[in-house]
Amino acid sequence: MHELIIVLDFGGQYNQLIARRVRECNVYCEVKSYKTSIEEIKAMNPKGIIFTGGPNSVYLEDSPTISKEIFELGVPVLGICYGCQLMAHLTGGKVSSATVSEYGKTATVFDTDSVLFKGLPAEGNTWMSHTDYISELPEGFKSTAHTADCPVAAMENKERGLYGIQYHPEVMHTENGSEMLRNFLYEACGCKGDWSMSNYAQTAINQVREKVGNGKVLLALSGGVDSSVLAALLSKAVGNQLTCIFVDHGLMRKNEGDEVEAAFADWDVNFVRVNAGERFLGKLAGVTDPETKRKIIGEEFIRVFEDEAKKIGKVDFLAQGTIYPDVIESGAGDAAVIKSHHNVGGLPDYVDFKDIIEPLRLLFKDEVRQLGIELGLADYLVWRQPFPGPGLAIRIIGDITKEKVEILQDADAIFREEITNAGLDRDINQYFAVLTSMKSVGVMGDFRTYDYTLALRGVTTSDFMTADFARIPYDVLDKISSRIVNEVKSINRIVYDITSKPPSTIEWE
Ligand code: XMP
Repeated sequence: MHELIIVLDFGGQYNQLIARRVRECNVYCEVKSYKTSIEEIKAMNPKGIIFTGGPNSVYLEDSPTISKEIFELGVPVLGICYGCQLMAHLTGGKVSSATVSEYGKTATVFDTDSVLFKGLPAEGNTWMSHTDYISELPEGFKSTAHTADCPVAAMENKERGLYGIQYHPEVMHTENGSEMLRNFLYEACGCKGDWSMSNYAQTAINQVREKVGNGKVLLALSGGVDSSVLAALLSKAVGNQLTCIFVDHGLMRKNEGDEVEAAFADWDVNFVRVNAGERFLGKLAGVTDPETKRKIIGEEFIRVFEDEAKKIGKVDFLAQGTIYPDVIESGAGDAAVIKSHHNVGGLPDYVDFKDIIEPLRLLFKDEVRQLGIELGLADYLVWRQPFPGPGLAIRIIGDITKEKVEILQDADAIFREEITNAGLDRDINQYFAVLTSMKSVGVMGDFRTYDYTLALRGVTTSDFMTADFARIPYDVLDKISSRIVNEVKSINRIVYDITSKPPSTIEWE
């Protein structure tokens, strides 16, 4: 059993970020809906509770709220933004609408005698995003931070263990925000910090063993980070009771299928690789519409997987690589959500199994990577950049042929190799080549050529929701360009994609 912090979600856009920051402080936390009953919260025996922000005004009738009993549990509570206003509202203070909203980086002055700001500078920038403000403190509270426009940028009632912060400590624009959260966890809640991946790996292995017993487990392995880490975990837990089916659709990057196979060669699992390249190319012949391509691949994936699974016969468990952001997004931590769309493209309908196991469902992506390292998984699998399920099919504009796939694989491999050689592979979050299928005139030696235009794409991003095009130095681009044109047949022109997302997307299809 770990120390637990409950993050009560009131609809704020940063709820996941708060949870990640808490775990970065080595304290385990779970995101729960604000509708969770007081009994349930009590039964979870938390060391502390955090209220997230939210888009509403606390004084409106339909706004999310919670029973005042939460403040009587003897468990420290930290309210953030809306959560802070809600705490003030429920404990007898007053929340009003300000004439001016505070938004963005704001100079803030702190009372360093407060538990939250202990050992931190008395002044610094915080990230504000609010119109409502606390116009009257509740009885027993004092203001512990202020800005030019906001008299209560933070408040506390130390005796009752109640703390509120009007700004967002979880976003990086708030200076020392993580340290303030750490102070809440360690100083106010008395946490010791018992959450680490090495602990977790052993616990998860034991739990899987207990649940699976002598049963058989089936996993669709895509070669992506989540399914690879899952395979490693299951292999350590139940060894060859696990069968991994790796459907190679022939649309992976150069040598990738072999790499995935090699990575698991020494592991104690039944590893089935299905080389289904021809089958996929057959289904995709002549198809040009991006959405149709995606649909065909998703469906075919399931069919191939089912064909193989049928050969194995009845299994007891189907393993899924669901991770915590999927769980939170599908209903504020509500239990029993089965992800219908995973990297394999969906849950197979006809596979005969009695239960699903999802050992990664409590982990964030960075934690999944850490777990992979703990388990001894090959570095190149742990640090793999995102790769879309439909693979190169959506990086070849228009119709797909075997020849085009090979051209793109070769060009993309050179691009990636040179980015690594230039030491840029950890700075650029995703980079790949796109075969545009457009042809143009060129000259090589004394001959006219009429060949394909290749596009290069490189982006920097933290969440892949928005992205900036990467500023790859010209000399690196120069080297990549001459190598590709010289070494790969059928390409005589290369362009670099200089759009950000939005308005573009990262992938071209
Ligand atoms: P876009 O192109 O929407 O891509 O800006 C955002 C991120 O998602 C990846 N991506 C996918 N990942 N299955 C996946 O598992 C897919 O069908 C898929 N399509 C896009 C893309 O590579 C980028 O990292």
